[in-house]
Amino acid sequence: MVVATSVNGEVTAFLVCFLVFIGLRISVCKAQAAAPAVYMFGDSLVDVGNNNHLPLSIAKADFPHNGIDFVDGKPTGRFSNGMNAADFLAKKMGLPTSPPYLSLIGDATLPITGVSFASGGCGVLNSTGEKFKQSISFAQQVEYFSLVNDHLVRRLGPSGAQVHLSKSLFAIVIGSNDLFAYFKTSSTVSIKYTPQQYLDLMVSTFKGLLKMLYELGARKVLVTGVGAIGCSPIQRKQNKTGGCNVGLNYWSVKYNDGLKTMLQEMKSELGMNYAYFDIYNVMVNLFQEPETYGFTEIKKACCGFGNLNADVPCIPLSSYCLNRRSHVFWDLYHPTEAVSSMFTDILYSGSQQYMIPMNVEQLLGV
Ligand SMILES: *[C@@H]1O[C@H](CO)[C@@H](O)[C@H](O)[C@H]1NC(C)=O
Ligand SMILES: *[C@@H]1O[C@H](CO)[C@@H](O)[C@H](O)[C@H]1NC(C)=O
Repeated sequence: MVVATSVNGEVTAFLVCFLVFIGLRISVCKAQAAAPAVYMFGDSLVDVGNNNHLPLSIAKADFPHNGIDFVDGKPTGRFSNGMNAADFLAKKMGLPTSPPYLSLIGDATLPITGVSFASGGCGVLNSTGEKFKQSISFAQQVEYFSLVNDHLVRRLGPSGAQVHLSKSLFAIVIGSNDLFAYFKTSSTVSIKYTPQQYLDLMVSTFKGLLKMLYELGARKVLVTGVGAIGCSPIQRKQNKTGGCNVGLNYWSVKYNDGLKTMLQEMKSELGMNYAYFDIYNVMVNLFQEPETYGFTEIKKACCGFGNLNADVPCIPLSSYCLNRRSHVFWDLYHPTEAVSSMFTDILYSGSQQYMIPMNVEQLLGV
């Protein structure tokens, strides 16, 4: 019993696990999770079903052919043929996918391993989600999180909740919809603001909400930039050559620059630790050499109809491809499961080429 006298937490955990295994002859032993919880904020790229609970929303994915590669081929509200980045991230951390906040309303106890507030169609700015009639804005997501925080304080005590949150990951994937809203035809915000003013408003709003999360206990934040959204099928089909929308990509890069500067300020002003995922350049690289990553179709959506399968979204009447593993895009906006998996590999353990100043694995270790 030399091992048992060790105060090393890991060894003790292993021993307890081992004894339980012998005693009950069932495997309840799991590898230790990389963090106590993951709190997920964002849009349809990481929505795991919040919008299923918004009756008026038109940003929905709770019907076929979404989920065709999910467990039992079931549509769940994920804008994907299978899992999305929220699922892959939780899996890497050794945690279950954080369930949608709106699915938990009325439950006496919330899961201790995290909650997802992500909602398709939303943006950093409240005005962005209006196009989709109903979605949970970033500000509203933070408000919901403060209610979860109240619950944690009741359950773990103030200092227990503080320790829990300081070790947890706060993951934020948002911003594309704000840019789509500005650059669409008949945009109302483009009358009010110049592009640069609009980006500045996005960044300052983001900073304000990040500060609120910090005040509520967040210390480790993963922030994803905006991808090369000018190259999504919905944008390419509007270009006669099938090329990317150069303007939209230009302003995405500008926004990402502002976001990175803001995150550095949060680090120096408050000591908030972060990992920034340069998804834009990952996508540019993917479009340049898709074969390296095992993809052959970078332009056409898998599910949809018409030009580049992007005239009609992925609805039950749409057709879909059989070789989902070789397509970058599932529908006119969203990546396939295979691409989400590849993104998550990079953000979790990738090099500083794309993870600034560190990857998620390192962030959880600080
Ligand atoms: C955005 O919405 C939240 C409520 O979710 C509200 O508290 C906030 O004041 C709004 N922001 C602006 C700029 O209207
Ligand atoms: C359309 O794509 C071409 C590249 O194929 C690019 O040079 C051009 O700028 C694009 N048009 C717009 C409006 O972005």
